[in-house]
Amino acid sequence: MKKVAILLFVLSVCACSNKHKEAKNVASDYNIIPKPVSMVPADGKFLVDAETIVSGNASLEKEGAYLAQLLSIASGHEISFNPEGDRVDNAIVIQTDESIANEEGYTLSVQYNQIVITGKTAKGVFYGIQSLRQLLPEETEKGAVAELTIPAVEIEDNPEFKYRGMHLDVARHFFPVDFVKKYIDLIAMHKMNKFHWHLTEDQGWRIEIKKYPELTEVGGYRNGTIVGHHPGTENDNKKYGGFYTQEEIKEVVKYAAERHITVIPEIELPGHSSAAIAAYPSLSCFPEEPTVVTKDMMSEKGKALQADGTAKIVQETWGVFPDVYCAGKDETFEFLTNVLDEVIPLFPSKYVHIGGDECPKENWERCPNCQKRIKEEGLADEHELQSYFIERIEKYVNSKGKDIIGWDEILEGGLAPNATVMSWRGEAGGIEAAKQNHDVIMTPNESNYFDHYQSKDQDNEPLAIGGFTTVEEVYNYNPIPKELTEEQAKYILGSQGNVWTEYIGTTEQMEYMILPRMTALSEVVWSPSKNWDDFKGRLSQMKARYDAMGLNYAKHVFEE
Ligand code: ACM
Ligand code: ZN
Repeated sequence: MKKVAILLFVLSVCACSNKHKEAKNVASDYNIIPKPVSMVPADGKFLVDAETIVSGNASLEKEGAYLAQLLSIASGHEISFNPEGDRVDNAIVIQTDESIANEEGYTLSVQYNQIVITGKTAKGVFYGIQSLRQLLPEETEKGAVAELTIPAVEIEDNPEFKYRGMHLDVARHFFPVDFVKKYIDLIAMHKMNKFHWHLTEDQGWRIEIKKYPELTEVGGYRNGTIVGHHPGTENDNKKYGGFYTQEEIKEVVKYAAERHITVIPEIELPGHSSAAIAAYPSLSCFPEEPTVVTKDMMSEKGKALQADGTAKIVQETWGVFPDVYCAGKDETFEFLTNVLDEVIPLFPSKYVHIGGDECPKENWERCPNCQKRIKEEGLADEHELQSYFIERIEKYVNSKGKDIIGWDEILEGGLAPNATVMSWRGEAGGIEAAKQNHDVIMTPNESNYFDHYQSKDQDNEPLAIGGFTTVEEVYNYNPIPKELTEEQAKYILGSQGNVWTEYIGTTEQMEYMILPRMTALSEVVWSPSKNWDDFKGRLSQMKARYDAMGLNYAKHVFEE
């Protein structure tokens, strides 16, 4: 009886193996975004069953655990990672191979009886896992399917650009740690590798600085917010704000690092600094001058504070404001370097983003301290004073072994020697910086601002800042401007999607604004050849994945 049982078992395994060895796959089984450099489908399916293991060595512990968890959820079997595993049959082997040329490159081989993911480093292995994930049925994003199979394929892949980023403004509206992690998970799924965290603004300071507790106690909250599009119809008179403790920042940085994503903090200077000035008014050229909220839209609480003699309040409306850090006072630089002393150790990133955009010069023009600085430093005007400001900060950041990124306004008045330029007012700033042999990250507002409208039918869209940027426009963006020579083009590190949140107050709306536009951008920065129709086909499968993940994406592109 026992022998019969064994024979039946062996026969059933063989039948099963044969069934999966010879299984036919169809084109719609392969829908990876971003599109791999080379992908050759084959016959056969790998069956994930109770005996399947993830096998690798201890240096890939994190990736092994991540993959084992992914497969456990998808298959309903308890799949484990064996760091000393040498089993190859019915195993998913993860390994590294230095001979892979690209730092982020990987290969993925799926056969009916074995899967092998090979990365140059653990990062490549992680990207191989993301490709494997997209070969799984979409429903596995929410739970197990009855018989989990993976179609056979041979993939060789690596990214086109080194910098593949998503930005998030958590200052105009605050997003809790859990959502920030979800955002990071989306970045990871798209094989993007930079999270640009915009942490300070006129409307809120969002990072705990122990030396300056009022930055978050006062600067972390505003007493109200305008209702409707700027300048608004009224003030909602609701206290609004929040901030991340340094422990929470560390948790997010670690979470991102486990997904091979670098978090780049942005500490804005010299402009967009009303929240810091509300906390420490002497940072302003004119500490006694009251904060102005456009068109008398200030909250009742704000008005009461000002009637009581508190001149500075956290901004309650959107825009660009003249009350900026005083460039003439040494106190400003002492404050900012102290802030950076606490920020820099929290972020392993080589870069600190120092803002630099939209700094009106009118206070500096009439400030005796700023004018004295211009004279003493032999500067021509306030634009050169802005360069002085940025260069002084750059020198400090460089002394800590880090480099700065700044918005393209940092070109005005002369570029700081080691700065990387983030080009947002179109591509002109990026082109100019590359011609000056500076690194560039392209984020032109026409194609890369995901706070823009996605439809001309704005009456039926959630309120947005303006603009109009479709998924197709994002997809058709080429980060290398034709104005550059091949040599100059090497300075273009990559591209990023920017998400400003004046009009994005909920996580649902955030998802709606970034999806599927970030999916399109992921292919712009990863894949060497693009085809809109082909992408659109794969995107319709990604839509099913969004659905399974419970994401609130924009549907316009699927209705065309
Ligand atoms: C920006 O959008 N002000 C960089
Ligand atoms: Zn000043």
